[in-house]
Amino acid sequence: GSVVGAALVFPARQLASAFSDDPPRVPPFSVPLSIPPVLKPTRSTADTDYYDMRIAETDLEILPGIRTRTLTFNGSFPGPTIRARRGRAAVVRQVNGLPGPATVHLHGADVLPSSDGHPMDPIAPGQARVYRYPNDQRAATLWYHDHTHHLEGEQVYRGLSGAYLLSDPVDALLPLPGGEFDVPLVLRDAKFDSRGQLVFVPDDFMNRPTILVNGRPQPYFEVKRKLYRLRLINGSNLEVFRFRLSTGATFLQIASDGGFLRVPAVRQEIDLWPAERVEVLVDFRSVPQGTAIALQNVAALSENKRDILQFRVGGGGPWSKSESVIPDWNRARIPLAPGRIPGWPANDPLRGNVTRTRRFVLRLDLASGQFVINDKGFDPDRVDATIEHGSTEIWEIVNDDAALGIQHTMHLHLVQFRVLDRNGRPEPAYDSYPKDTVRLFPGDVVRIQATFDSHLGRYPFHCHFLDHATHSMMGQFEVVPRR
Ligand code: C2O
Ligand code: CU
Repeated sequence: GSVVGAALVFPARQLASAFSDDPPRVPPFSVPLSIPPVLKPTRSTADTDYYDMRIAETDLEILPGIRTRTLTFNGSFPGPTIRARRGRAAVVRQVNGLPGPATVHLHGADVLPSSDGHPMDPIAPGQARVYRYPNDQRAATLWYHDHTHHLEGEQVYRGLSGAYLLSDPVDALLPLPGGEFDVPLVLRDAKFDSRGQLVFVPDDFMNRPTILVNGRPQPYFEVKRKLYRLRLINGSNLEVFRFRLSTGATFLQIASDGGFLRVPAVRQEIDLWPAERVEVLVDFRSVPQGTAIALQNVAALSENKRDILQFRVGGGGPWSKSESVIPDWNRARIPLAPGRIPGWPANDPLRGNVTRTRRFVLRLDLASGQFVINDKGFDPDRVDATIEHGSTEIWEIVNDDAALGIQHTMHLHLVQFRVLDRNGRPEPAYDSYPKDTVRLFPGDVVRIQATFDSHLGRYPFHCHFLDHATHSMMGQFEVVPRR
């Protein structure tokens, strides 16, 4: 009896530890924010900057005092920031140091199919691949991430993403904060086990209790009493944010996914779902020194995920109470508010007659457990939409998961689109254009309009809850020569 008993005790204990695997506790706002390094070109010519990156498994510190196994670009979690300029190409050579395949997609970029990082176009282990980014588009906060077939969910989750900030002459002319006052914030969901290792369970949105900002759990950020340009990138697989400042202060939103808004928008709360970006100005100039202001997610499903980041204004302390500071963006000396952004095209950038309307229905297929579009999972050999070059289309996208309460998004490679309406009502301008990813609340019907006038070839479109895209909420469109 005792032998059998002993044999049972050991697994039982293992089982117990598996179920009580609370991650090491990190007190809120106890670690400083980090800013990913800006990647330096290895060489530059008159019109091109050349970069080298290496994708590899890396052990590094995310939780204080603990080494966590991650996947990184150049050992950085998230990856290093690329700062590119319109009119100068960026050529990035990626070496895949992983034991399996990897691809790199530059999200929001207008690039040839050969540089798009298509899921079926991987870099084999030990091999290198050169991606060419022409940077022939408006200034925008883009981001790069892995896109390997059936692995993008896990590989992005383990760390393969980074910011790509494209500037242009318009951007350079605007009186916007630069240098240390222009800050990318890559936010993402994570779950750690009791040893501080990342746990990936597909579609695990209820169980990812930690939000990382630039790879740090609930960090604090010491800011000066200045105006800041924050570039918020939702790099989560599943987490949705509704941002708010704890003081009730407003954001001035200046850009959406694909670049500047026509007119900046004063926002109290900002929705940001996976893969979406906003650029906002936050004004700390009249905030008393020693004030603490939290960036909060009022859509958080649990209290511990509500506070994301703490701004500590102007040095000193005590960082306890926050005072109500509501900047008056109309009076603030920001010449671009509330007027039009100079340089914004006078004409509607999406011209042309709509040649075609398509409908895509997104839902979870309970029978197969797959996420499907028009009843089909991703098939790399199937083209779901053949589009004549130069044409403008309207896509009606339906989230058919009202009953299950599942959220989806729709992301198209290659193009920036306009969100025309949501459930028949016009989308607010700040969420309408330029967009490459659109939110779909359960039951939503959203219409987008896009013009396919750049490259020919095959590109994916998919839900950007990456755990859904991975299995298998993805299709392909192909732009073909005009007949
Ligand atoms: Cu960030 Cu295919 O996408
Ligand atoms: Cu989805």
